Amino acid sequence: MTHPVFADVDTGVDDAMALTYLFASDDAEVVGIASTAGNVPVHQVCRNNLGLLQLCGLSGIPVSQGAEAPLSTPLRTAEDTHGPQGMGYARLPATEQRLTGHDAADAWVRAAQSHPGELIAIAVGPLTNLALALRKEPALPTLLRRLVIMGGAFDYRGNTTPVAEWNISVDPEAAAEVFGGWTAAWGGRPPAHLPIVLGLNLTENIAMTPALLNRLATAAGVTADPMSVHDERGARSASANPLIAVLEDAMRFYFEFHHDQGEGYLAHLHDPLAAAVALDPSLVECRATTVDVELTGTLTRGMTIADWSNRWGREHNALVGVGVDPGVFFDRFIDRVGAFARQVGS
Ligand code: BDR
Ligand code: CA
Repeated sequence: MTHPVFADVDTGVDDAMALTYLFASDDAEVVGIASTAGNVPVHQVCRNNLGLLQLCGLSGIPVSQGAEAPLSTPLRTAEDTHGPQGMGYARLPATEQRLTGHDAADAWVRAAQSHPGELIAIAVGPLTNLALALRKEPALPTLLRRLVIMGGAFDYRGNTTPVAEWNISVDPEAAAEVFGGWTAAWGGRPPAHLPIVLGLNLTENIAMTPALLNRLATAAGVTADPMSVHDERGARSASANPLIAVLEDAMRFYFEFHHDQGEGYLAHLHDPLAAAVALDPSLVECRATTVDVELTGTLTRGMTIADWSNRWGREHNALVGVGVDPGVFFDRFIDRVGAFARQVGS
């Protein structure tokens, strides 16, 4: 069965891998892409999304531009993590494809209204445009079949401040509105479903390595070009497959960043896990809880708090991911993206 899928991304190396996974999945039909400012400014996110579609030989998937800045604070970007244009060392092809005439918040509402009860959505950037969509259509949560958010760090250190994760930290007000809006949308009725929230505590288990990238190239039918920490920085892929070459060039930058952070020559695939879970929630173990976002702490702004023991006495508003088997995820990722790359390169 094929599900309509909507993706809100701040592309970004791992966002691009998440989109590629969705394009590669026969059980997903991507019906819209919202471009959100985050890893790079929103104009660059749009360019990356359109360029990736071109590279993958896809047309007709609407890409919408979101707000230029978070709800109430200036934008911060992460070129140190994702490269000057957000795709590491990779260069995407030029394209004639254009953005929609409506913005990303409208795109959320239109997609949900066009597929009531059917739409599966991922939000793997700051939650600015989803919060704006909720302001336009407060019943949005009741229209979705499933939402998977990559964001937060639950009982776990942050990657932007000591306690805050990037997507939440860039626009904490938006995140708080999204978590608050969920139960409000159901008007006192128990929500039929809660958003699945994957924080760093879970996504940092998903470590791409040079060996796994080699497996991906092999699955795509091309010779693997093994990468190593000893390679010259910025060395470009010689892969005969254009999609594998872009993924390798993007990943090399991401490997170097993680290495410089003292995490090893590897890279965390936060957003691809969200994409995979959106299509198959059984990939993760979750616990229902109430999540809120710290907005005023002088040291803890952007921290996500899960009220595991219900001390606030509030209704649950999230299913927080607490367990994952990275081997199962990577087998599936390599199978799907490898076969898709083979098709793109043929
Ligand atoms: C998140 O931050 C971004 O840099 C990544 O794309 C991911 O969505 C991880 O904290
Ligand atoms: Ca992202």
